Amino acid sequence: MDVALDGIGKGYGGTTVLDGVSVALRGGRVHGLVGENGAGKSTLARVLCGAVRADAGRVLVDGEPVALRSPRDALRHGIALVTQEGAIVPGLSVADNVLLGTRGALRARSADRDRIAALAARAGFALDPSARAGDLPLVHRQQVEILRALARGARVIALDEPTALLPAPAARRLLRLARDLAERDGLAVVLISHRLEEVLDACDTVTVLRDGRHVTTAPAADLTPRDLLRAMVGRPVDVLYPEPEPVPDDAPVVLSVRGLARGTAVRGVGLDVRAGEIVGLAGLVGSGRTETLRLIFGADRRDAGEVTIAGRRVAGRSPSRAMALGAGLVPESRAEQGLVLVRSAAENLALASLPERRRFGFVRRRAERSAITETADTLGVGGVGRPAWTLSGGNQQRTVFGKWLVRSPRLLLVDEPTRGVDVAAKAHVHRLIAGLAARGVAVLMASSEVEEVLGLAHRVLVLRDGRVAGEFPRGASAEDVLTTAGLR
Ligand SMILES: Nc1ncnc2c1ncn2[C@@H]1O[C@H](COP(=O)(O)OP(=O)(O)OP(=O)(O)O)[C@@H](O)[C@H]1O
Ligand SMILES: [Mg+2]
Repeated sequence: MDVALDGIGKGYGGTTVLDGVSVALRGGRVHGLVGENGAGKSTLARVLCGAVRADAGRVLVDGEPVALRSPRDALRHGIALVTQEGAIVPGLSVADNVLLGTRGALRARSADRDRIAALAARAGFALDPSARAGDLPLVHRQQVEILRALARGARVIALDEPTALLPAPAARRLLRLARDLAERDGLAVVLISHRLEEVLDACDTVTVLRDGRHVTTAPAADLTPRDLLRAMVGRPVDVLYPEPEPVPDDAPVVLSVRGLARGTAVRGVGLDVRAGEIVGLAGLVGSGRTETLRLIFGADRRDAGEVTIAGRRVAGRSPSRAMALGAGLVPESRAEQGLVLVRSAAENLALASLPERRRFGFVRRRAERSAITETADTLGVGGVGRPAWTLSGGNQQRTVFGKWLVRSPRLLLVDEPTRGVDVAAKAHVHRLIAGLAARGVAVLMASSEVEEVLGLAHRVLVLRDGRVAGEFPRGASAEDVLTTAGLR
């Protein structure tokens, strides 16, 4: 089945988000869609699957114009969208979720379960149809969404940043599935991603969007990541990591951690971070990176260990105490932990500095307002006055980051700072972190991208099974780090 988006236009309140975009999707092919944050990728995918009504243009299925007024309409034409956030009902079983919305299927019968199990097997998913969807890890929730599309016989599947939250092996499996769906089953697959190498690897054809316009469509084989980047940004981009300022010899220790432990996730982590120092936390999924940050911040209760911030002990579970001592945590999941989506980005930035505002009252407020404007500028988040849910994924991520910048922290704990952030903006966030450190902020940064920690941090600690398994200087080889992390 072939689908053509023809001259698609879309605006929100006077702002043009898509401007006459035409893309042709063919059965049997994987079509990549790349562009900077806010370029219009997700919006285009939503138009394709009927979730957003275009203001202009047509959607043609096998040459015939079709009206897609809702996702249900689109599904009837065989078009489905799989988003990152996932749309599952946690209380229902996998099978019920897969059948969700189909007529008459309130509870899956055993015949349905068999059919779903067969589909899952064909897709290579180890999913139990009777498991409760809410208990599934993220990887499996995404699989439920994919199955839902397949169970309804979708011939076109759009995957919006499907690998952004996945550990590397799961991401590889997903990309292989995308190829299988195209090559083996003849589907047209759309793949949206900021990982340019992955796009070039998995796709036959790639389309670049910039500011809502179509820039180019070309065979992946003819493109390099650098070509894509230039087309996305419209100018040559400097993606080198900023050289961090050397840490002064007399820089005081801002964060000191000894014997930190919780369950089997973290089993005795010790580390120091000095003022102006960026310490990277590398490790495989499940190595304890996120949990270590959360324990330091007091977001979770620790079983054992001591945390000292600026020379003061921080008791068990007390984020407010950590915050009062100048610590901030930028969490890995923006939507769940970081943002109030119905509030504007500006309000989200302001919320982060609430405790101080209470303490200092009126005078402080003006300073705060300028801090917010400045932060939004620094982050390059446009439209700070609009509800956060209308921001593109990457701009939401940057807003979460900004929340902590307006507090002028002494210690910044950062988890996956550039996840879902486009390549150019990524360099921006890197410069931001380096700039904070240069001003004396102690930074402890976890990232699943080894290149990122090695490029940005003064030194890198490698976690493995909840323990510090090794330490590397900036610029060490990624391979050595990964070997220490336990990658086979
Ligand atoms: N409901 C809405 N109301 C107002 N503006 C919106 C709405 N939905 C999207 N936008 C705006 O449209 C533009 C394109 O957003 P879109 O989500 O399509 O970007 P994207 O290319 O997917 O970016 P990212 O890589 O960050 O996910 C952004 O400026 C976004 O803020
Ligand atoms: Mg998007």
